Amino acid sequence: MGQTVLLLPGDGIGIEIMAEARKVLEWVVRHDRLDLTFDQALIGGCAYDATGDPLPEETLTKAKSAAAVLLGAVGGPKWESLPYEVRPERGLLGIRKALDLYANLRPAQIFSQLLEASTLKPEVIRGIDIMVVRELSSGIYFGQPKGVETLPDGRKRGFNTLVYTTDEIERVAVSAFEIARKRQGRVCSVDKANVLEATELWRTTVTALRNARYPDVALSHMYVDNAAMQLVRNPRQFDVILTTNMFGDILSDEASMLTGSIGMLPSASLGGRYALYEPIHGSAPDIAGQGVANPLATILSVAMMLRYTLQRPAAADRIERAVNRVLDQGLRTADIMQEGKTRVGTIAMGDAVVAALAD
Ligand code: IPM
Ligand code: MG
Repeated sequence: MGQTVLLLPGDGIGIEIMAEARKVLEWVVRHDRLDLTFDQALIGGCAYDATGDPLPEETLTKAKSAAAVLLGAVGGPKWESLPYEVRPERGLLGIRKALDLYANLRPAQIFSQLLEASTLKPEVIRGIDIMVVRELSSGIYFGQPKGVETLPDGRKRGFNTLVYTTDEIERVAVSAFEIARKRQGRVCSVDKANVLEATELWRTTVTALRNARYPDVALSHMYVDNAAMQLVRNPRQFDVILTTNMFGDILSDEASMLTGSIGMLPSASLGGRYALYEPIHGSAPDIAGQGVANPLATILSVAMMLRYTLQRPAAADRIERAVNRVLDQGLRTADIMQEGKTRVGTIAMGDAVVAALAD
């Protein structure tokens, strides 16, 4: 029976980069004769404009019947003053929760062609290959109670709750340990156990799991402030970083800059039954609609989809090789532009990757 991939372009540059990622996936479908069809739906600000809901029921229904979801980005200034419940970001958090996508894989790998594009010294970042495993469906993003209340004296009080249960910690830690076994076999678990009780539970739970089931994996622990520092001091020390939802949000943006541009990094969000793939960057309203956005993170997300969900590792390798080839050819979008290279727009970059697929 044929499979469906649901495309959710979202807002801002999401629309432009999705069009290029689709071209790449269409090429693979034709070339490898995959029995795969595409469907599309709304999420984020555009969904709110059309239906009043950033995550319409129809989108969720389609997502649940798809083999995988490919998402662009959500959000923009147009929707920033809306109440939290209907903000575009709510659509994204809502679909992560509804599909129970608890393990967010964010690889930060350096493309040697872009060594000079990073703001860090080449000798610091050469050869880095980090996998951030971010818990994605719990923690302070979802904990109750939360809100803003008015106190009797008129002051306001805003509050969120950081909460983790042992099973929530264990399942994402299992993902990290399993991934580490296929890499260098090292997991660094990042928390703030010296201050936050919930992350002390994180630390003891991860340690117990390692001792019981993954004695072959080397486990270390780091406080998040130190981890943020170590990432720019000596990023090569890391193999797999396992961390909470909010710490992972922050550290994965930091890790992305080691590689030169946030426009290069894909991600996979996995859970029990469903899978969603998206670039780690946002909707970049400042450059939306100009045709200059970098589509490579979304194209590399397609490669992750082929590897993790569609079981087509050869096609995934082929896409990654094609991305390397266009970088070798000197093609650069604005975010990764370097002296002496050829600046191209979103569509030209997508076309170049498709052309490179064929060689
Ligand atoms: C990310 C983004 C989202 C997050 C936002 C857009 C809600 O920053 O995927 O990293 O905080 O998770
Ligand atoms: Mg983020």
